[in-house]
Amino acid sequence: MKKPLLAPSILSADFTDLASSFKKMEDGGAGWIHVDIMDGSFVPNISFGQPVVGALRSLTKLPFDVHLMINNPERHIESFAKAGADFLTFHWENVIHSHRLIEQIHALGKKAGVSIVPSTPVSALEALLPYTDLVLVMSVNPGFGGQQLIPLCLDKISALVRIREEKGYSYLVSVDGGVNGNNVEHVAQTGVDVIVSGSAFFDGTLQWEKHIK
Ligand code: DX5
Ligand code: ZN
Repeated sequence: MKKPLLAPSILSADFTDLASSFKKMEDGGAGWIHVDIMDGSFVPNISFGQPVVGALRSLTKLPFDVHLMINNPERHIESFAKAGADFLTFHWENVIHSHRLIEQIHALGKKAGVSIVPSTPVSALEALLPYTDLVLVMSVNPGFGGQQLIPLCLDKISALVRIREEKGYSYLVSVDGGVNGNNVEHVAQTGVDVIVSGSAFFDGTLQWEKHIK
């Protein structure tokens, strides 16, 4: 089995002591930091914005995978790029001109990601797959940490891995939501490249080096 990369989500970090949380992520095997941006409109919850991302940038050299769960993401990509994002990942569901947005992200010198919620099929992404750097498959409905993984979403990961091979594309595939110590090995068997984990990473029930060999 190919070893995936861990991207802990700071949504479940200790917001009163983010410096310690960053050390915990680095010591705990993080390859990327997953940064969840929520606007209280596209998703029911609000997290934080560019000033916080900019402040966190000095705490690590690891890439920031910025997951934009916001409406009108095109208005905010430049400011998140300046704040220190490496990947800018938007949602397919609320963007009409997705191909244009990928080009705009690339023009900022950043990697572009596209995410799908559990009810969106892989076929929706067909025209974007040659251009995107990352496909983020949500395995819970976005908005909150600590939810249960929806198993059918894992089939989408296997399909994306297969399509990449068949067509010779180069995007990475990431899974986000509900991954824990009990299901992580099963999730990794899909061939996924990046595993996001929030609550299970920070409460210690997912121990990367122990669970992923
Ligand atoms: C959910 C977020 C996730 C979340 C994952 O809307 O996009 O990144 O932080 O948290 P867990 O791992 O607790 O499901
Ligand atoms: Zn996320």
